[in-house]
Amino acid sequence: MNILILGGGGREHALAWAVMQNPKCDKLIVAPGNAGIAQIAECASLDIEDGGAVVEFSGENAIDLIIIGPEAPLAAGVADALRDAGFPVFGPSKAAAELEASKSFTKEICDAAKAPTAAYGHFTDAEAAKAYVRDQGAPIVVKADGLAAGKGVIIAETVEAAEAAIDDMFGGAFGGAGAEVVIEEFMTGEEASFFLLVDGEDVLPIGTAQDHKRVGEGDTGPNTGGMGAYSPAPVLSDAVAEKALEEIVKPTMREMARRGTPYSGVLYAGLMIENGQPRLVEYNVRFGDPECQVLMMRLGAQALDLIHACAEGRLAEAQVTWADDHAMTVVLAAEGYPGSYEKGTVIGGLDGLTEDSFHQMFHAGTSKKDGKVVASGGRVLNATARGATLAEAAERAYALVDGVDWPEGFCRRDIGWRAL
Ligand code: AMP
Ligand code: GLY
Repeated sequence: MNILILGGGGREHALAWAVMQNPKCDKLIVAPGNAGIAQIAECASLDIEDGGAVVEFSGENAIDLIIIGPEAPLAAGVADALRDAGFPVFGPSKAAAELEASKSFTKEICDAAKAPTAAYGHFTDAEAAKAYVRDQGAPIVVKADGLAAGKGVIIAETVEAAEAAIDDMFGGAFGGAGAEVVIEEFMTGEEASFFLLVDGEDVLPIGTAQDHKRVGEGDTGPNTGGMGAYSPAPVLSDAVAEKALEEIVKPTMREMARRGTPYSGVLYAGLMIENGQPRLVEYNVRFGDPECQVLMMRLGAQALDLIHACAEGRLAEAQVTWADDHAMTVVLAAEGYPGSYEKGTVIGGLDGLTEDSFHQMFHAGTSKKDGKVVASGGRVLNATARGATLAEAAERAYALVDGVDWPEGFCRRDIGWRAL
């Protein structure tokens, strides 16, 4: 099989690594890729948000399966263009990608499906939104309706802070994403992520994970794209996962199919769990980054068979084989991230790392310059390991971190603290 992966982050490096383990993969191209991906696959330069260009490239390269990593090509309808041209593709249609692109859309689907989630109001003008906030009281959560790169959510501790957030959003602080606002009840509990493959009708759980969104140790400081993750997430026990499946995922997927916009691809359900009851925080229509890295580490080569079955609508016959293991990924980021940071700093020590089916240094924002690997983004490397226990996985992941010589980088030293 000739496979094309779209994207160039740590998520896509992990996907590429898993796909390459599987003997069914004859050739792998990743667009645009990064310096780590270039060591295991061919990297191509291609406008991955241009459906026509991706279709043409796939035809020219006799591609049999396209795996879409990030949300932007999905929201741009690249999966639709590929499906219309007859290519098997892993990723939802533009209409189904609304589950991530519009928060009010997801809330409405939850209402129709009676799926447990936070109470909410949806507003197109500031005065009505503020009146709702005054009525509900604080703490309360103010969200820009559209895609805001993870920054469009304000947890307001007071009514005044919520009103200020509403003014900011309608004032254009998040561009078009804030033209509509969703205001939600503040939910308490522990968060975890549940990953499932969906092929319109059938749903197959493929794992759980917990992310670390804050930049600082002890979950302090500003939000980031994620500073580390581990799998499985103990709070998502079998009983809680079963509830999430039956009460949230299956009813919402049935509602999507009923509306004529069936979902196909990986579904990432962000859940809040309190007293054994899961509620939906949000859906994402792609793998989490860095959650994908720990899932791929645990799934290995079978990830390709699962993705292929999903793309071809054969999930009913697919099965996941779990080892009783744990995985952890620690993100190395450029000093200053998530604020401003330097690019082009040289990363040493990568050639000396032990990498095997228990240890992988996945690359996120890296490129090659004058024969050296340099940092080209905020989140740069993902030290990923698995072990019989989470403690063993952590020890191995931090051993990888310690093998890297990059004075301009940093990581959190406490990934997994809740579970450890
Ligand atoms: P989102 O972009 O919807 O994932 O929100 C970002 C983060 O804000 C979530 O991961 C939660 O930590 C938090 N959050 C979002 N909505 C709520 C809510 N209704 N109650 C409590 N926390 C929330
Ligand atoms: N790590 C969080 C996300 O990918 O959305």
